[in-house]
Amino acid sequence: MAKIAAAEKPVEELTKKEAAAELARLAEEIAGHDRRYYQDDAPTVTDAEYDTLRRRNLDIEARFPELKLEESPSERVGAAPTGRFAKVRHAVPMLSLDNAFAEEDVAEFLARVRRFLRVAEEAPLDIVAEPKIDGLSLTLRYEKRKLVSAATRGDGYEGENVTANARTIKDIPDSLPKAAPDIVEVRGEVYMLHKDFAALNERLAEAGQKTIANPRNGAAGSLRQIDPSVTASRPLKFFAYTWGEVSKLPSETQSGVLAAFESWGFKVNPLMRVCRSAAEALEFYREIGEKRARLGYDIDGVVYKVDRLDLQERLGFVSRSPRWAIAHKFAAEQAQTILKGIDIQVGRTGALTPVARLEPITVGGVVVTNATLHNEDYVRGIGSDGEPIREGRDLRIGDTVTIQRAGDVIPQIVDIDLAKRPKGAEPYVFPTECPVCASKVVREVNPKTGKRDSVARCTGGLVCPAQSVEKLKHFASRNAFDIEGLGDKQIEAFHAERLIATPADIFTLSKRLPAADLAEKEGYGAVSAKNLYASIDGRRTIPLHRFIYALGIRHVGETNAKLLARSYGTYDAFQPAMIAAADPESEAWSELDSIAGIGDVVARAIVDFYAEDHNREALDALLKEVTVEPAEAIDASSSPVAGQTVVFTGSLEKMTRDEAKAMAERLGAKVAGSVSKKTDLVVAGPGAGSKLKDAEKHGVKVIDEAGWFTLIGKG
Ligand code: IVH
Repeated sequence: MAKIAAAEKPVEELTKKEAAAELARLAEEIAGHDRRYYQDDAPTVTDAEYDTLRRRNLDIEARFPELKLEESPSERVGAAPTGRFAKVRHAVPMLSLDNAFAEEDVAEFLARVRRFLRVAEEAPLDIVAEPKIDGLSLTLRYEKRKLVSAATRGDGYEGENVTANARTIKDIPDSLPKAAPDIVEVRGEVYMLHKDFAALNERLAEAGQKTIANPRNGAAGSLRQIDPSVTASRPLKFFAYTWGEVSKLPSETQSGVLAAFESWGFKVNPLMRVCRSAAEALEFYREIGEKRARLGYDIDGVVYKVDRLDLQERLGFVSRSPRWAIAHKFAAEQAQTILKGIDIQVGRTGALTPVARLEPITVGGVVVTNATLHNEDYVRGIGSDGEPIREGRDLRIGDTVTIQRAGDVIPQIVDIDLAKRPKGAEPYVFPTECPVCASKVVREVNPKTGKRDSVARCTGGLVCPAQSVEKLKHFASRNAFDIEGLGDKQIEAFHAERLIATPADIFTLSKRLPAADLAEKEGYGAVSAKNLYASIDGRRTIPLHRFIYALGIRHVGETNAKLLARSYGTYDAFQPAMIAAADPESEAWSELDSIAGIGDVVARAIVDFYAEDHNREALDALLKEVTVEPAEAIDASSSPVAGQTVVFTGSLEKMTRDEAKAMAERLGAKVAGSVSKKTDLVVAGPGAGSKLKDAEKHGVKVIDEAGWFTLIGKG
């Protein structure tokens, strides 16, 4: 990470000549960061470092206004569009916000507003405060209440047309209710929830693709996919917080307009608050700072806006930002602590991951004790692109390190204080043998790039207890066999006692360990023992895609498992084909390799899996215990809703209305728009109103969305 301004002179000490050179240098550096942030989705500095550069630029310009460059960063927002998408000129520019870092900056902002408006210090002045979402801004244009275009900010004046992609985002309505004006541009932030970001990275890693650094880059990269179906597969969210062109504003205040947006079907940040004084606004900032870690999405500060729109209008803009709003940024969350040790974890596919054990330290309100060290190179100070990280400094036990919890939820070690390194500290030696089973550790050579893989793997396969236990955890996990009561801890215990070694053992456990005996074990009782066996028995039948996913084959995550299930239809067709595909000349291989979405690396991994005798033995035993359902389209006549009349009402979260309708119809149901005594079933989401009352009146069964998925067997 670049060190900024550390060695540079304070602005007050610059000569005019130095100031001119500094402005030129800053313009270039900021433009480079803008490009990496906006176009490549790959920033190389933190927001705080970037803000420092911009602030320095502004400070120098304030001291030497005559030196201000025509192309000054203070006149520009972001970077020009990348050119892959068509360009859209914004009807009203999408500008940026000025930043405040200290409470005094906020007080100064409010005082400035009052001075400008000639509002006395004691007179009321409502300020709307809300979290500053760390995503990317998007403008949505509705004409005659239909979404006609969606565009990114770009350079503030011209953005990229991402309409098709925006349409796949569930928080973005396709049409607005009658109350909305003829023309309205709703603006807000596209972002990704931490949990969705983690799941996306898991999927990418499984598919052997590059993972994404943080949720903001995840949101930006997902929104700017050329293929909208890729965007659709990535769960993006949207908060509305401002607007562009509007033919008739629905209110006279900022908070009123946002309330109208909400009533039109947009999501508005629920934490938004109208504050009556500077003290209240700062209190809000502190509260949000405390809640930050638990929000489930990244924010990088708080935004304050003058509530009354007539006052906003009077205040107007200065260069790139409104005079009526300011962003109060959070300080980057960093803290120093000691690296006490480096442990190696062995994963399901044998990957050895070094984990830093830290002297516990609070960073931004959260106690951090571990930090991922990714891989051997990372410990040595080499990044995934082969370039040095931490200026090439390697990590040694006993080092004093700087921990950062930035937008990222996973804490990172961003720096080492070499002056504090204990005498005689030795470079860390990465194990050449698996710390669990002592098998050899290898770093494979990527056949595509010819480069050594950054991941070191244990070659022990199922001989390695760490790998086999991780495989079992995966097998029983939610999206695989989903065996309730058989979580990570239970599997570790059964595995340690040699009661479960392969998946089939799960299903034969009750024969070897009757419920009465299990009930005697620590952590169990008569009821929980009975429940565990009931939930195991409840999973003796499983859809093909879940079964394939459960096998834990390298590179085969849920997406690939579904592709394979759809392509082969039944397990009886799948397994022999995978065995036959071992011959690269065979038709089976070319069939597998030609499935859209399944590349060489994935195909190879599946074939390798089936080529192992011990895997086939484990499968034979497992197939004696479970039945794998074919993936064919569900037979409408046997569907639980065939012939029924179903009504969907309220908001649905896992599917759009259209999807729900198509799904119900595929299952042989009729979908109606209103509830009558002929209705068989009402599926009601949050916010359901009169239809729910009608259902009560006619005594119609009501279930929620989750109930629907359970009913049709997809729960
Ligand atoms: S209001 C005239 N409100 O921050 C600009 N912006 O640094 C009005 N942002 O471009 C923007 N959360 O991408 C506003 N609650 C919020 C925001 C927010 C995030 C972003 C937005 C904007 C940038 C400004």
